[in-house]
Parts: sequence; structure tokens; C-alpha cells
Amino acid sequence: MSMENWQKSLAAALELEHRQVDNGLAAFLTELDNGRVAVDHLNTALESLRRHIYAEERILFPPIRYGPMAMPVAVMMSEHGEIWRAMDALAELAATGNIDRIRVAGQRLLDQLVTHNGKEEQVIYPAADRELEPEQIEELADFLETGLMPDSWQCREAG
Ligand SMILES: [Fe+2]
Ligand SMILES: [Fe+2]
Repeated sequence: MSMENWQKSLAAALELEHRQVDNGLAAFLTELDNGRVAVDHLNTALESLRRHIYAEERILFPPIRYGPMAMPVAVMMSEHGEIWRAMDALAELAATGNIDRIRVAGQRLLDQLVTHNGKEEQVIYPAADRELEPEQIEELADFLETGLMPDSWQCREAG
């Protein structure tokens, strides 16, 4: 995609990833209601979400977390930590086959994402659209298209 298109659609590309993760998790919960623990579908959604958080913490946030954006970015990092722990808990539960408990954990993660993504889309992504330099936009665009998260990477507040 050309740079001008990415500049216009940086927020749109990140919002699309939000929708894809939400849809993947929702599909996993639907399968759960039909009695099937689709671990492969769950893992696909969780891998996408971890990679999305990596892109935010390593590429998107560093150039904008100053001045009036310092606090909103700090809140997002803290929520990433909560989301990360919820992902780990869900992945662990999925291996047990206890459908009722998996469902509670899956719904909890989805609820956390609704709150988190809503704030990001209203506050963080517009600031990124305004403030990122062209080469920062290009770095993010490249990563979203083809980048790989390092194997054992964890978000800063995961632990
Ligand atoms: Fe985020
Ligand atoms: Fe996000």
C-alpha cells in the first residue's frame, strides 16, 4: 500500500485488527456453546492479539507518549498487562476442557477488549494519525503487513 494510503488508514488498519480478534474470539465462544473447544481457532485469535499489542507497545506508543498523551498511553499499557494475563489464563483453561470455565474466561477477555479498544480508537489512534512521522507510519505499516513478533516477547506489564 502507498504511504498516503497508510497515512489515511493507519487507524483503520489497527481498528480492523481489533474487529478480527473480536470476531475470532466470538467464533470460538460460539463453537464452545456447541460443545467444541476449538483450541486452534483460539490460538489464532490470541496470536493476532499478542502481535497487535506488540505493534502498539513497540512501534505506535513510543513516539506519542509525551505531554497530554502520557497518561492515556500509560493506561493502555496497564490494560495490556491485564489483557495479557487474561489471555494466558484462557489459553491454560482451554487445555482443561472445562467448557463452563472457559466460557467465563473467554467472555471476560472479550469484555476487557471492548473497553480497551473503544478508548484506543477514540483517544490513541487519532493522536497517532496526527503525530507520527512518515517513517514511523511506514515502520508500523510494514510490521502490520509482514512483521513477526519475537517468540517469547511479553508486553511490559504482563508479569
Ligand atoms: Fe491496545
Ligand atoms: Fe489496539
